[in-house]
Amino acid sequence: MRQKDFVLGLAASPRQRANSTILLDTVLTKAAEGGCRVKKMEIFKFSIRPCQGCGGCDRTGVCVLEDDMCLFYPLLQEAGHVILAAPVYFYALSGIAKAFIDRSQALWVRKYRLEQQLPSQGKGYLIAAGATRGKRLFECPRLTMRYYCDALNLHYAGNLLVRGVENEGDVLNNREIMQEAHAMGRAICQGQESGVRSQNEKTGENI
Ligand SMILES: Cc1cc2nc3c(=O)[nH]c(=O)nc-3n(C[C@H](O)[C@H](O)[C@H](O)COP(=O)(O)O)c2cc1C
Repeated sequence: MRQKDFVLGLAASPRQRANSTILLDTVLTKAAEGGCRVKKMEIFKFSIRPCQGCGGCDRTGVCVLEDDMCLFYPLLQEAGHVILAAPVYFYALSGIAKAFIDRSQALWVRKYRLEQQLPSQGKGYLIAAGATRGKRLFECPRLTMRYYCDALNLHYAGNLLVRGVENEGDVLNNREIMQEAHAMGRAICQGQESGVRSQNEKTGENI
């Protein structure tokens, strides 16, 4: 059963003052101020092995690997809002973020192979940071997030995507995106759609 006021933030950057994590913290702070229960998990600190594609989850919907990912499966199903915050590496989500997503294959199996009763639909959001300014910088992360949300039975409800941030903390100099992070946090706790960043990046639907 999903809890509408429970916001799960997944921080995937290993940097101390990561741009994506700064944005995530801002969103979570605002959501908490609005009355949401927030939980931040720094996924890079956990031992999460890559999916080995063994098909072990095919008949059970349970991954055969016994590592820290086990902590996340219940949270991903309880949270009313799941926010993934990650850096862009080589025009994709960082490896840690992608490994985490791949390990959610067991949840995809529950939905599409086993047709199990799913938790009610929640909302998913992507926060991503990249150094360059290319038009297609977030194409791959957004596409991945779209299908990740589908597997988790989440409506892909919003993005916070920032270009041109290279060094740690650079995002703090971008007032516009920091304001958008505030707005996203407020929108989440008010149950509104939260779409940010112009240029067709308002929601995950416009890929
Ligand atoms: C391995 C690696 C690959 C990267 N690849 C890209 C890239 O393809 N495009 C880009 O714009 N920035 C790239 N960057 C830069 C990061 O996206 C940028 O520094 C970003 O601010 C990191 O986010 P974070 O502070 O949340 O970790 C790369 C950085 C690293 C370490």
